[in-house]
Amino acid sequence: MNLEELNQIRETALAEATAAADAAAVEAVRIKYLGRNGLLPEVMAQLKDVPNEEKPLFGKGANALKNELAELIKEKQAVLSSGPKKGGAFDPTLPGQWPALGSEHPISKVTARITEIFQTLGFTVADGPDIETVWNNFDALNTPADHPSRDEQDTFYLNSGDLLRCHTSPVQVRYMESHQPPIRIIAPGRCYRRDTPDATHSANFHQVEGLFVGENVSMADLKGTLAYFAKQFLGEDVKIRFRPHFFPFTEPSFEVDFFFEVGGKARWIEILGAGMVDPEVFKKVGYDPDKVTGFAFGMGIERLAMIMYGIKDIRMLYENDVRFLSQF
Ligand code: DAH
Repeated sequence: MNLEELNQIRETALAEATAAADAAAVEAVRIKYLGRNGLLPEVMAQLKDVPNEEKPLFGKGANALKNELAELIKEKQAVLSSGPKKGGAFDPTLPGQWPALGSEHPISKVTARITEIFQTLGFTVADGPDIETVWNNFDALNTPADHPSRDEQDTFYLNSGDLLRCHTSPVQVRYMESHQPPIRIIAPGRCYRRDTPDATHSANFHQVEGLFVGENVSMADLKGTLAYFAKQFLGEDVKIRFRPHFFPFTEPSFEVDFFFEVGGKARWIEILGAGMVDPEVFKKVGYDPDKVTGFAFGMGIERLAMIMYGIKDIRMLYENDVRFLSQF
């Protein structure tokens, strides 16, 4: 063995190590050259037969080759183990991984369904702010100063004297003050009351208001509209009944019940408040009650959602627990 042969071994060894394309090939090169019975230990063992004058350079060269090769193999192993796993190369045709998508909140679902049904009757959606004036929330709605709902016990007041609306009815006032009849609107939105939370009460909740104003709008229109809504919402078999009631802003006023099946049993369930717009309200917004008539209604969305989905506790609607929400 001489220096020239050592150089040849060096060249092939480094070339083979460089060319090795996977972990198994690298390992084969390592065993071939650096293994216990590999070529380099054999070269070292032949040092004694090398011509004396070449011995120092030969020894040095063999050692350098050993280190160089070991380093190269280490680098290759590192690169190959951090790349794609064996048999699992990157496949650009596989579908991507999506983050879990949320689902529509039951309150949004019910609101959207109610809105959709009234839109088929030509109603448009009107909006109002959560912070209202006392005028819009009470006075213009013919709600007298001594009405219990005006009490601080029942309504949240701000230092400015405004309040958090306790129903969506003030949107009626806003809309009539800024538009002329005929009017056909619904107004879904959030409302606030000083209620102590329990299974059926929440200090904030949602309602949908409805208002229809024009010439010769009658009780028959109110009944027909609500009966149509009931059938669209709950199916052809639903029945509807009006019970006399009192609201300051409608005369006559009613509570409206729907008869339908919940939990396998059909029964009457109170769904909304309604009535013919009180002439006093028309006067407050500057309409002539001798020229126009109208009907209005308001319904609680949480209640409908709870009935439809069999939700036992209203608080579940606000806890944002995805285990609950993902069921809808
Ligand atoms: N604003 C009433 C409430 O919060 C609901 C209501 C009843 C609205 C009758 C109406 C109506 O428009 O005509 O209890």
